[in-house]
Amino acid sequence: MKLNIVVVAGDGIGPEVTGEAIAVLKEIAAQSGHEFTFTEKRIGGVAIVQDGTPLPAETLEAALRADAVLLGAVGGNEFNTMAPDKRPEAGLLAIRAALGGFANLRPAFAFRELTVNSPLRPEIVEGVDILFVRELLGGLYFGKPRAWDKAKGEAWNTMRYTRDEVARVARIAFELAQKRRKKLTSVDKSNVLEVSQMWRATVSEVAAEFPGVTLEHQLVDSMAMHIMNRPRDFDVVVTENLFGDVLTDESAVITGSLGMLPSATIGGKVNLYEPVHGSAPDIAGKGLANPLGAILTAALVLRHSAGMEAEATAIEAAVRKVLEEGYRTPDLARGQTQGVTVLSTKEMGAKVRETIAKQLLAASS
Ligand code: IPM
Ligand code: MG
Repeated sequence: MKLNIVVVAGDGIGPEVTGEAIAVLKEIAAQSGHEFTFTEKRIGGVAIVQDGTPLPAETLEAALRADAVLLGAVGGNEFNTMAPDKRPEAGLLAIRAALGGFANLRPAFAFRELTVNSPLRPEIVEGVDILFVRELLGGLYFGKPRAWDKAKGEAWNTMRYTRDEVARVARIAFELAQKRRKKLTSVDKSNVLEVSQMWRATVSEVAAEFPGVTLEHQLVDSMAMHIMNRPRDFDVVVTENLFGDVLTDESAVITGSLGMLPSATIGGKVNLYEPVHGSAPDIAGKGLANPLGAILTAALVLRHSAGMEAEATAIEAAVRKVLEEGYRTPDLARGQTQGVTVLSTKEMGAKVRETIAKQLLAASS
């Protein structure tokens, strides 16, 4: 199989961690005889500096022609005072909108070896396996009107959804729940917002198409609490854009490090893959970044854009294996001094590749 992957590594630690994800994909290609091509393009702060815009036309054109787009991270402190539509983040939002993927899949799971990293007690964290489906193209992020009228001292954004936008993301969430533990939790703020009332009514209607899945509704404020108190009770969680943004960062606490979490955005013209973590400018270029979120994102590329389930599972198994063997990047070594070996970004990438090679070799012999 041929896979044309456009890589937009972006800012901060983006290039470092994406480099390791690409190296893993190259290792898989070499082992399996598939042909993966990687085309690197600019996005975010680097694009603002070099091209004068956070999403150059050339990047967008290449992305629209790709089989999959792999993104690192965008953003940097030097852009913090810019207006939202000029910042590196605007490039990310624009590429999301152009590629059209509306369902952002964000798993939050506990690695047994990392429970010590979570501030939550091990008996709460152990065995957690939640899949968030965050609506990615609607709500406050894209709703109009939006403005900051400085003269008036007034600013506004609009939370807007159509019924169809809710139904299509709900359908994907139900389908995923059907393949998992058959429970879907829909999160809204229907005690206050009309948008949420429509959200709740629409998700309930779609539920009729999926009789095998149990649907529950939660309000976003109490959900934030339930995720910390009893995270094992949740299977698939579907919610609107901003609620999903907040709840998925909160859920990273379960994993112990934001650096572990991958994401895939599906449902549009071209799938977009990005680790959940940001650009972490404070540690950029120092070899301290955790590449495992990006590497697990590479696994999602294989699963959702190439139908290579065995290889995706091999990557995930290799990540577990290196953790079991005690290898950690600095963010994962906190709280652990005994029996762990701290590796740089590149060393961690190499360790994962070595483990994948051994596993695939063992599987084929
Ligand atoms: C995320 C990020 C982005 C978002 C930012 C960088 C625009 O926080 O992917 O969760 O808010 O969607
Ligand atoms: Mg976020």
